[in-house]
Amino acid sequence: MNNQRERWGSKLGFILAAAGSAVGIGNIWKYPHMAGQNGGSAFTIIYLICIFLVGLSIVIAEFAIGRKTQLSPVGAFEKLAPGSYWKYVGFLGVASAFVILSFYGVVGGWILKYIIESLSGGFSSLAGNPDASSAMFGAFVESTWSPLIYQLFFMGLCMWVIINGVKGGIEKWSSVMMPLIIILLAVLAVRGVTLEGGMKGISFLFNPRFEDLTPSSIVLALGHSFFTVSLGMGTMITYGSYLEKKQNLLNSALWIIVIDTLIALLAGIAIFTTVFALGANPAEGPGLIFVVLPSVFTQLAGGTIWAAMFFILLFMAALTSAISILEVQTAYLIDQKNWSRKKATLLFGSIVTVIGMFCSLSLGGGINITGFLGESFFLGETFFDVMDNLSSKYMLPIGGMMTAIFVLVKWKIPGYLEELSTGVDGYAINAGLIKGTLIFAASVVAFIIINELAPFF
Ligand code: PHE
Repeated sequence: MNNQRERWGSKLGFILAAAGSAVGIGNIWKYPHMAGQNGGSAFTIIYLICIFLVGLSIVIAEFAIGRKTQLSPVGAFEKLAPGSYWKYVGFLGVASAFVILSFYGVVGGWILKYIIESLSGGFSSLAGNPDASSAMFGAFVESTWSPLIYQLFFMGLCMWVIINGVKGGIEKWSSVMMPLIIILLAVLAVRGVTLEGGMKGISFLFNPRFEDLTPSSIVLALGHSFFTVSLGMGTMITYGSYLEKKQNLLNSALWIIVIDTLIALLAGIAIFTTVFALGANPAEGPGLIFVVLPSVFTQLAGGTIWAAMFFILLFMAALTSAISILEVQTAYLIDQKNWSRKKATLLFGSIVTVIGMFCSLSLGGGINITGFLGESFFLGETFFDVMDNLSSKYMLPIGGMMTAIFVLVKWKIPGYLEELSTGVDGYAINAGLIKGTLIFAASVVAFIIINELAPFF
């Protein structure tokens, strides 16, 4: 075990780093298109319920496990429950990190490509022409080499930040990037709202259309609530492990969830106001930002700047999240195997990059490793989609549920409360409330997962 554990430099630095992990392509890419296709604010309402009633208690639990043990997930569970099977919840987290970062790195690469295209005027021929934009996006992601090169670059940056350590890498970059993300997004949202017809985007986003909500939207909302706050794979355990005892874990968790939610809503406003003002298709799905936005931004005066601003802020959001995923993997090797930070980062960073290459290649249909297992094995999905669905629909909710159960049955409420109360001044924590929310969180996830898996058996 490491005697001199790395530490956050300040309370605010920790909040910005954890919020940086939470705010990512989940908020700016996934949430808007999911809400667009699943009933607008009807989806948002379900997602908010999931975040505040299920997610919040698990963020707090993850922080507490990390701070108590001063270890990343595998070691943390092992320390609180020595010799038991609970450490496999930690291993599930490390495995989830491989699954998520593989496709996340590919999307990170796409974003880099789009920054360069927007700055070099590559979108100018796409103005008002979503078909051309769609053809450009399709040709890019389905090509072999170009996405791989951008992915490599993105993953290289990620590794570089992590090698620089908790304070000198993660905290430093998150503290610079988080405020910039908020400023850029706010400017884009104001621009959108003040466009003629932009307000139609607001009513699209905030008027509930319950008829568009299906049972699968609810599974989607639950899975997304885990994905968007980086829950269920020990990211928050790892970040919590670099904390000293004086941090108020309850307040911090609330801050992170509020920042994450506000940024998702702000992204929705910025995107849908612009899409509506320019008469594009709001229910485009995953292509919303890569296909629709390049064709609408370029119709505005100063279009290059708007598009570049958008993709730059998206890039910063993706980077501050991707580093938190890589940190979970790296911290495992540092804590459990005594590896140096550099060696750990380079090894796991390279492996996940290679897995990601298969995600990218699966989109062109050339090399799709799910195809080797027979077309029907993964219901005909690409390897990229399999990794995305596997993590947000199953691995993260299961990891989160197991964390809640762990606190309830193994660590037990009195020990847990003792850790939570450290750093909390001025009010007493209600044990019944803490216990009730954990039971509720675990039950909701169990119910939804069982329903989701039932058709397979
Ligand atoms: N929360 C990140 C996002 O919204 C993704 C993420 C998931 C990061 C799990 C870390 C762990 O994009």
